Amino acid sequence: MVRANQTVTDEIPINKEQAQNTPAGTRLHRHSRDPASPRASAGAGGPFMAALSSWNKRDKTPQHNITINTIKGKTMKQVTKDNREWFQEWANEYDNTLGKVKRHHKLLDLVVKLSGIKRNDQILDIGCGTGLLSLKFLNKTDCTITAIDSSAQMLKIFQEKIEKCNLTEKIHCAQKSAEDMDFKSNQFDIIAATVALHHVKFKEPVIKNVYDSLKAGGRFIIGEIDMDTTGKLDDPKRLLRILNYLTKEYALAMKEGGIPAFERMYDNGKKHILNDGEYCIGFSQWAKLCKNAGFKNMEVSPVKEFEWFKVLVATK
Ligand SMILES: C[S@@+](CC[C@H](N)C(=O)[O-])C[C@H]1O[C@@H](n2cnc3c(N)ncnc32)[C@H](O)[C@@H]1O
Repeated sequence: MVRANQTVTDEIPINKEQAQNTPAGTRLHRHSRDPASPRASAGAGGPFMAALSSWNKRDKTPQHNITINTIKGKTMKQVTKDNREWFQEWANEYDNTLGKVKRHHKLLDLVVKLSGIKRNDQILDIGCGTGLLSLKFLNKTDCTITAIDSSAQMLKIFQEKIEKCNLTEKIHCAQKSAEDMDFKSNQFDIIAATVALHHVKFKEPVIKNVYDSLKAGGRFIIGEIDMDTTGKLDDPKRLLRILNYLTKEYALAMKEGGIPAFERMYDNGKKHILNDGEYCIGFSQWAKLCKNAGFKNMEVSPVKEFEWFKVLVATK
């Protein structure tokens, strides 16, 4: 059940009207702007000198002004497209970074366990990535999976696995954003999304759509970090609240995936702080959205040993 001490705010960016009052995020281009990065542009004197020189010439505008100015005028479509590029780049190293983190597998295993999956169930995996969750469902029992993702590169890697494992009859992949789902009503027994739906800025219509596509008694399962990133971007209290979660994640990534995983998670953390294509909310907020969409029962369970990750099962 939803824990009593979870924070509920009314600032969830669930529709465009509310979002107009919520500070938007900024675009981050991995490594390109950070002068401390060894990948910053090299010049005479080697990368370090080039980095120092660009640091000295940096824009002296206070950071929070840069944040707000760069986002002005961006439409949701543009934000979604940039986010897609981030995943295109990550796809090739996904299984060697997040895919190596024990906590991620424990999250996926808990999703499968709590899903109550039965033989011949029809499943929709939203934001399937390289297919880690879908393959765990199929490992558990014989079922049919529709897997969607907005990133062509993620799907390419998943498709290679499907063909290698002779699963073309069992899994159908499509490049589609959660925001563009147009499945028939009452089609699926289970709709699942692991660490994917927090990328959706306007969550309310997507969850209503999920509700419609589920059969009566069907289950919607969300596996996510229980991290409320709503609020004003330049609020230091919000920053500390988010960093509290991110430090645990950085340590885990370093421990289990080494420097490549840490580097990816570190960059990713910055995107979460600035709501740059990452719009995490807490589980009481997810539960509220599900309730508003019509779901009857919502149960939230923490991932053992990694309690800041949780799984919500909402039943239609
Ligand atoms: C962190 S990965 C999670 C992948 C997989 N579910 C897992 O647990 O390993 C997030 C995935 O969501 C996808 N994604 C991001 N925004 C999306 C959107 N609006 N609609 C559909 N997929 C999206 C990304 O391309 C990426 O593959």
